[in-house]
Amino acid sequence: MLRTRLKMVVDSLCGRRRRLPLLASLLVLFSTAGVLLFLHIQDLSTLLNEPPKGTTFLITPQEQQTEVMKDPPTEMALSSLVSPVKLPLSPDPLPSLSQEQETGSLITANRQRKLLKTSPPLSHTNNTVAASSSSTTPGINVPESWIELGKILRDRKNLMGEICAMYKSNISNTVTSAQVSQIFVVDKYKLMYCEVPKAGCSNWKRTLMVLAGKAKNIEKINHDTAHYANNLLKLNYYDLQGIMHRLRTYTKVLFVREPMERMVSAYRDKLENPNSYYHNLFGKPIIRKYRQNPSEHALKTGDGVTFNEFVQYLLDVSRPVGMDIHWNPVNNLCHPCLVDYDFIGKFENMEDESNFLLRLIGAPNDLRMPTFKDRNPKDVKTSASITETYFQQVNLEQRQRVFDFYFRDYQMFNYSKPFKDIN
Ligand SMILES: *[C@@H]1O[C@H](CO)[C@@H](O)[C@H](O)[C@H]1NC(C)=O
Ligand SMILES: *[C@@H]1O[C@H](CO)[C@@H](O)[C@H](O)[C@H]1NC(C)=O
Ligand SMILES: *[C@@H]1O[C@H](CO)[C@@H](O)[C@H](O)[C@H]1NC(C)=O
Repeated sequence: MLRTRLKMVVDSLCGRRRRLPLLASLLVLFSTAGVLLFLHIQDLSTLLNEPPKGTTFLITPQEQQTEVMKDPPTEMALSSLVSPVKLPLSPDPLPSLSQEQETGSLITANRQRKLLKTSPPLSHTNNTVAASSSSTTPGINVPESWIELGKILRDRKNLMGEICAMYKSNISNTVTSAQVSQIFVVDKYKLMYCEVPKAGCSNWKRTLMVLAGKAKNIEKINHDTAHYANNLLKLNYYDLQGIMHRLRTYTKVLFVREPMERMVSAYRDKLENPNSYYHNLFGKPIIRKYRQNPSEHALKTGDGVTFNEFVQYLLDVSRPVGMDIHWNPVNNLCHPCLVDYDFIGKFENMEDESNFLLRLIGAPNDLRMPTFKDRNPKDVKTSASITETYFQQVNLEQRQRVFDFYFRDYQMFNYSKPFKDIN
């Protein structure tokens, strides 16, 4: 009954999402001398004796020959333990607080800005595998950077739980097919990845294709194949039972990015750069509504939407055209309070964190997150300073409202306020 589309076109209009309730649990990542790293969610004490269903031993015997595993294999074990998350089903989804953030003011009302702290970008750690192989401590061979990363990931997960708990006085225990339509599934690795466009999703999709056995070589997967012909399954393909089973037992991954940077990146990619599909679908109505005296050409092509016009569209309660996954807040796309993600990665440190995750799930050792940018490769990647430049084209009130629009993402993923003059 819940069977729906098999594939989802990335560039399609994003459906409105509603109702996010929550499920909280814990990700604990720690290391000890014997069994070194656990990525796991619930009761630790039970795990040590009796691993729950869904246990994945990350280093399989064949893989123990690699450089990571030079020390006695029995002393090394990386385990990803994903234990069941309670998601009892009830027929009627309850309303929840996190509706689509249609208006900034709606969220502004009950938020707690004090939670926002300044967060300098993560410092880049060295390649974890290399670090491991050069370790000289016998028996204990987990790279420092992994332990550190484990702590960071645990903090992120805790923060997410806190924010969800704060907003979610009324929890719905149901999940709808639409709410999981952004989530890719790789059964072989019990892995699920929620697609957040403009936060490294192309390279993640390539990686998932290799993990799922749909492709051999990441480098050979071109952009269009990754997006339109990846043959990957999404979670909403399964029936409700299949969805729940996977939510309970798989490793659920989310990669996020500084919200305004992501939004600027989406604007540049879809509206500033040539893109007939987006210019047609979004450019035309945006120009028609927000530009005074538009030229014939602009009206006909939808080319040349300015950043200011884009911001007006984004903040408009009655937008002439709906939202899109590229600039929809992560909270609306991936429902982190409902799908209890185990791993919250950051685009800003994507390589290290992705490779760490790949090792944790027991991916083939030679599989690494690719680093290339294949779409508009000549463009400089959207950075904080580029973002600032774009935001100079809008006034203070608009900056404030864009921040409000993405406030939940800022708060939940611990990104600091990007401008001093907003609050
Ligand atoms: C948020 O970011 C700050 C600055 O990087 C960091 O010190 C803090 O630990 C982070 N908090 C969480 C919960 O991740
Ligand atoms: C990375 O490794 C190089 C050489 O091994 C070292 O000089 C450098 O300090 C390391 N950087 C970090 C961030 O650990
Ligand atoms: C939550 O549910 C309770 C009981 O159904 C109700 O009294 C309360 O107003 C609800 N709170 C919110 C924020 O919806």
